[in-house]
Amino acid sequence: MAHESTYKPGNALSKWFDDRLPVLRLMHDQFGVFPMPRNLNYLWTFGGILTFFLVVQVLSGVVLAMHYVPHESMAFASVEHIMRDVNWGWLLRYMHANGGSMFFLAVYLHIIRGMYYGSYKAPREILWILGVFIFLAMMATAFMGYSLVWGQMSFWAVTVITNLFSSLDAIWSGLGTAIVEWIWGGFAVGNPTLNRLYSLHYLLPFVIFGLVLLHIWALHVPGSNNPTGIEIKTKSDSISFHPYYTVKDGFAMSAFIVLFAFFIFYAPNFLSHPDNYIEADPLVTPPHIVPEWYFLPFYAILRAIPDKLLGVIALFASILLLLFIPWLDTSKVKSARYRPIYKWFFALFVISGLVLGYLGAKAPEGWYLIVGRIATAYYFLHLLVIMPVVGWIEKPTAMPGSITESVLGKGAGGGTPKGAAAAPERR
Ligand code: HEM
Repeated sequence: MAHESTYKPGNALSKWFDDRLPVLRLMHDQFGVFPMPRNLNYLWTFGGILTFFLVVQVLSGVVLAMHYVPHESMAFASVEHIMRDVNWGWLLRYMHANGGSMFFLAVYLHIIRGMYYGSYKAPREILWILGVFIFLAMMATAFMGYSLVWGQMSFWAVTVITNLFSSLDAIWSGLGTAIVEWIWGGFAVGNPTLNRLYSLHYLLPFVIFGLVLLHIWALHVPGSNNPTGIEIKTKSDSISFHPYYTVKDGFAMSAFIVLFAFFIFYAPNFLSHPDNYIEADPLVTPPHIVPEWYFLPFYAILRAIPDKLLGVIALFASILLLLFIPWLDTSKVKSARYRPIYKWFFALFVISGLVLGYLGAKAPEGWYLIVGRIATAYYFLHLLVIMPVVGWIEKPTAMPGSITESVLGKGAGGGTPKGAAAAPERR
């Protein structure tokens, strides 16, 4: 990666090891002395929190898989067996189910942080694009995991979402139906569907793991952005990752774990739907089919559009458009902190996401439908029109000359803070 190694093996054994597999050197250079902007706020702790939850999900999931049975006639009962008979099974299951929710909560905050401070802009475009791929993989994993419970909501959510592909029949008669039946492995959601969803649900977290490694690699080439959006220029702008940010990340992670524990121990089913405690019945459709809370904004976009194919296109476009925001945003300034007009539009964008999330759980009728359409229109207007146009016309407010100046004020000598790390070599 970008800068010279400062690792010095402490003894003969670590030197022997370092000459053969310099993994301790890698850890030292990338997570020990790595130069970080000195002004990161708590929103920069969510990357670490996400990494923690990825590990929680994999570990709890592997043990759950030892007791789960991926068969349509046994899946639901095997989940109840985990809850009632397996030692600490209830804890594992509640950790995994609520861990999924915490994962999405953290990722939404992580994405909003990145968007507000312009972290997707040059030279971090690839880092951002990898993030969007991670997000897509997370959505696919969560969707497949939810199906495994084989409760009423799981079963019907799989039916509704896989059926979306049938909208392709409007383009080429029979194409959509053929794709849906291929996904199902039959003429309805059934045992072959459950088996492939289980297999892919086990596989995808490892794909996410690989993407996260690339994501962190791509982060460590330019280094982290920061609330000013101004890059590190001198040694005084940076501090080493350890101990400054290991401690800050550790503290934030502990606070987040308290929230996680609250859900596990006091409200374990608060974020899920009661109908999922009824075994899947292909003959009884629930009156309202709703996905898990983290999919609600996208579900609202799907239902805001009266045409099935256009609804599906809007659903996918709402996520895939994020891939292009490094180029849709034409502003010269990264951080919205110095963008007097854009910051208000950004607030509206976040509000439109929240409104869509609320409406996703309501029946699409009356006012709910009208507001859903307005919020959907704003979502796309923001990405496709407001981002480029405001970037052209807006005059940014006065910016500090450097990160140090933003922390210590103008005229500050910018004396090197204790623990300041060497500024990374720029490419
Ligand atoms: C499993 C999910 C993810 C993990 C484990 C992860 C991990 C991380 C870590 C450890 C960092 C550095 C610390 C920080 O800035 O918070 C980071 C930064 C970043 N991530 Fe992620 N990330 C994930 C998902 C995403 C997604 C979905 C996006 C966007 C769509 C994204 C975009 C970014 C950006 C732009 C940065 C650089 C932030 C900056 O330097 O200002 N990440 N990520």
